[in-house]
Amino acid sequence: MIDKKNAEWWKSTVIYQIYPRSFKDSNGDGIGDLRGIIEKADYLAELGVGMVWLCPVYASPNDDNGYDVSDYYQINPEFGTMEDMEELSAELAKRGIKIMMDLVFNHTSDRHKWFIESRSSRDNPYRDFYIWKDPRADGSAPNNWRGYFNEPAWEYDETTGQYYLRLYTKSMPDLNWECRELREEVYKIIEWWADKGVAGFRMDTINTIGKDQRFPDAPEDAPDYVKGRPFFTNQPTMHDVLREMNERIFTPRSIVTVGECSASDIEETLLMVAEDRHELSMNHMFEHDELDFGPGGAWDIVPFTAAQLFDVIERWQTELPAGGGWNSWFWGNHDLPRPVSRFGNDGKYRERSAKLLAAIEFTILATPFVYQGEELGMTNAGFDSMEHYRDVDAFNYYKYAINEAGLSEEEALANLRYRSRDNARTPMQWDASEQAGFTDGTPWIEVNKNKDEINAEAQLADENSVFNFYKKAIALRAGTPALLFGDFVRIESGCEHAMVYERRFEDERVLVAVNMSDEPASLDKSIDFCGLEPVLDNALGPGNDLYRLEPWQAVIYK
Ligand code: GLC
Ligand code: CA
Repeated sequence: MIDKKNAEWWKSTVIYQIYPRSFKDSNGDGIGDLRGIIEKADYLAELGVGMVWLCPVYASPNDDNGYDVSDYYQINPEFGTMEDMEELSAELAKRGIKIMMDLVFNHTSDRHKWFIESRSSRDNPYRDFYIWKDPRADGSAPNNWRGYFNEPAWEYDETTGQYYLRLYTKSMPDLNWECRELREEVYKIIEWWADKGVAGFRMDTINTIGKDQRFPDAPEDAPDYVKGRPFFTNQPTMHDVLREMNERIFTPRSIVTVGECSASDIEETLLMVAEDRHELSMNHMFEHDELDFGPGGAWDIVPFTAAQLFDVIERWQTELPAGGGWNSWFWGNHDLPRPVSRFGNDGKYRERSAKLLAAIEFTILATPFVYQGEELGMTNAGFDSMEHYRDVDAFNYYKYAINEAGLSEEEALANLRYRSRDNARTPMQWDASEQAGFTDGTPWIEVNKNKDEINAEAQLADENSVFNFYKKAIALRAGTPALLFGDFVRIESGCEHAMVYERRFEDERVLVAVNMSDEPASLDKSIDFCGLEPVLDNALGPGNDLYRLEPWQAVIYK
C-alpha cells in the first residue's frame, strides 16, 4: 500500500499543461513562446499549480507542432532561445513551480540527423536506429498496420528500396528500441535535460515504443483506425526500456514521470506504475477519453452516459491503488476536445459544468493535470470549414473520411467539430481585445469567437468565476489530507446521473456529490451528511435540500 505520510511531493501537487504555441505570444509573430509564458508566471502561481508540463519546445519542422523533433538539444527558435528556457525555469522556480518536459521518443522528425544518416544507405551506422523492412514480393508494405492519423504505417524510401515504419506522419519515422546504440543516445539526452534542473518528464506515446518483432499482419477485418495496435502497444521491450531509464536516471535524481498510455487497461497500467515495478511514477490513462469511441475507433463517435463515466472513475480509483499504483487524472489535453464541450454542457450550464469537472478532478485520489484554458471553462472551437483547421490529423481525417470511408463533407466536418485536436489549440483567452490578448499580430490559429464572454481578465475579477472555483478547489485539496490521500469510497447515490463518494483520512471525512445532467437529481435518503458542512458548491442558491442536486451541481462537504 501507498505510504501516505511520506508520500512524494508530486502526489500532492497540481500539474498545469502548457501548449506553448497557443499560450501567449510575446513578440507579435502570432506564435506563443517562452517569453510569453514568463509574462504569465504570476497567473500560474495565482491558480496554485506546482508544476508546468511544457509540450515540446525542441527544434522541429512542426509537421506535428513540435512532436516531430529534429534536435533534442535545441530550443525551437519560434519559441525562443536556451537562455529564455533558463529564465523561464528560474521565474517559475521563484514561484515554487517546477518544470516537466515532454519526451518524444517513439519517433523523431525525418529531418533529425539520425534519420538523415539512417536513410542514406543500408549499411550506415544509424540504419538500425529506425525500423526498416523489405517490401513484400509484390512491392507492397511489409504488413497491413495503420497509424494514428488515418494512413498506412509504412513508407517506401527509394534511396535504399525499403520501407520504414511510422505510426504518425511520414515525416515522423519510428525509432527502433531494440537498438542498443539508440538507447544510449536517448539516455544521454534525458540526462542532459535532467542536468538542467528539469524535475519531471511526460513520455509521449510511450506504450508504443516496443514492436512485436515478428511484425505480423493484423486480422483483415480489424477496423482501419490504428490497425495492428496490439502488436505495437505494451510490448516487453517497453518495460525493459522503462526499467533501464528508471534505474539510471529517474530514481537516482528523484524525477517524476508520467506516461501517455492510450488503450492500456488497469492491468497493463499497473505493470508500468506499480511501485515495485520501478518504471514510471504514473500514467495518463484514456478509458474515460475513449468512452465515445465506437467499434471503428476515435472517429466513430458514439454517445456515452454519466453512469459509464462514474464506473470508469470508480474502477481506476479503487483498483489502481489496490495494485500499488498512483493515479493521475485529466479531463483534456492538446489532443482532445475541450472537456466542458464533451463531459459538460457548453451552452446553458457552461460555467456550472466546468466547475463540476474541477470539483471531481480535485477531490479524487490522483495527481491532477489541468490543460490550459480549462480553468476558464474554454469551449470547442466550432470551426465550420476546413480553412480554419491547422492540424495534420484533421487534414488526414478529412481526406480519409471523404475518399475512403464514404462520408459527406458535412459529416466529416461535424466529426471534426467534435473530435479535432484544434478544438483545444485555439489561443488562450486572456482578455476581450481583438486577439484575446494572445498576440498583437495574426494568430497562427483563429481565436475562439466567445473570447468576450470567456477570458482570464474578466474571471480573475469575478469571485464566482470558473477560474476562482479552480483556485479554491486546488487550495482545498492542498489543505485537506483526506482529499490527498484518503481512500476513494463510492456511495450509492440513488440516481443514475449523480455520483457520490467519500474520502477519509484518519478522522477527517470529505463527501462529494455531483450531478452530471441537465436534470436535477434526487439523492438516496440513506446518505449520511451528519457532521458535514458544505465547503465548496458550484450552484449556491436558496432551498439547500441536501438530497436534491440542481442540474450540474457539485457540492463538496467536509
Ligand atoms: C502524442 C501527442 C500528440 C502527437 C503524438 C505523436 O499523442 O500528445 O500530440 O501528435 O503523440 O507524437
Ligand atoms: Ca512569438
